[in-house]
Amino acid sequence: MILLDGKRTAEAIRTELKQAVINRKEGGRKVPHLAAVLVGNDGGSVTYVNAKVKACEEIGFESTLIKKDNTITEEELMSLVNKLNNDPEVDGFIVQLPLPAHIDELKVTEAIDPKKDVDGFHPVNIGKMVLDLPCFLPATPAGIMELLSRNGVETSGKDCVVIGRSNIVGTPMSIMLSRNSNPGNCTVTLVHSRTKNLKEKVKQADIIIAAIGKPGFVTADMVKEGAVVVDVGTTRIEDPTKKSGWRLRGDVDFENVADKCSFITPVPGGVGPMTIASLMINTLKAMELNGK
Ligand code: GUN
Repeated sequence: MILLDGKRTAEAIRTELKQAVINRKEGGRKVPHLAAVLVGNDGGSVTYVNAKVKACEEIGFESTLIKKDNTITEEELMSLVNKLNNDPEVDGFIVQLPLPAHIDELKVTEAIDPKKDVDGFHPVNIGKMVLDLPCFLPATPAGIMELLSRNGVETSGKDCVVIGRSNIVGTPMSIMLSRNSNPGNCTVTLVHSRTKNLKEKVKQADIIIAAIGKPGFVTADMVKEGAVVVDVGTTRIEDPTKKSGWRLRGDVDFENVADKCSFITPVPGGVGPMTIASLMINTLKAMELNGK
């Protein structure tokens, strides 16, 4: 079994991006600037956004963190998005999800200028992704593609089962793995809460992408010997042995599944760092796209 080490792979990407920043500075050009909007204080979102800002600092990107109370109105948030769309100093920005229930996430996502949408969530970017046109790819599935490619995981002709059909992971992942590219060229089955014989379908897979947010859902009896397993889950579960009182658990029962796999991602340290690395890649691309 080989561990797909996202922490190490993301570090290699950060080193490349650092060099790109140095090259830009030497050429007298501006460095990329990412803005992140955080609404409220959901524990997971705070951690992710802080990690994104920290990655910018390490690479040498500029970053701006905009924190708003969860009492912000939809109108106020829309006006902030509009301001960032028109700010020439900001190359790309994200609005961390989920948003409070009184705010329409789709409306906010649609208000982001697709040229600054480094999360790749805008319908224009999703549409371009489906057509395999140049665009911003959603960070988590793009990070998984990068992790597979940089660790020599063969995908061509493989049967892949994606568990979960979310807009930001499962659905784009199924498209990216099925298209004619490397990595890609998989035969993809997307399974979800209404799928018949889900366990049997997962058991057929050469590659399993688990993205449903149910800790320990993928058990050893669902995994074929030699399968590649990618775990997107990051649920906080109680753990009195930790100072914080919790730890992250993935969608895969790692302890019992790992021995059966050819490759498997750990949680934490697998997909999470790759998501952040992809966002950094997209931010550099945003600046280049905008001709700076
Ligand atoms: N919530 C969970 N993942 C993401 C992400 O990649 N981007 C944003 N904006 N929100 C998220």
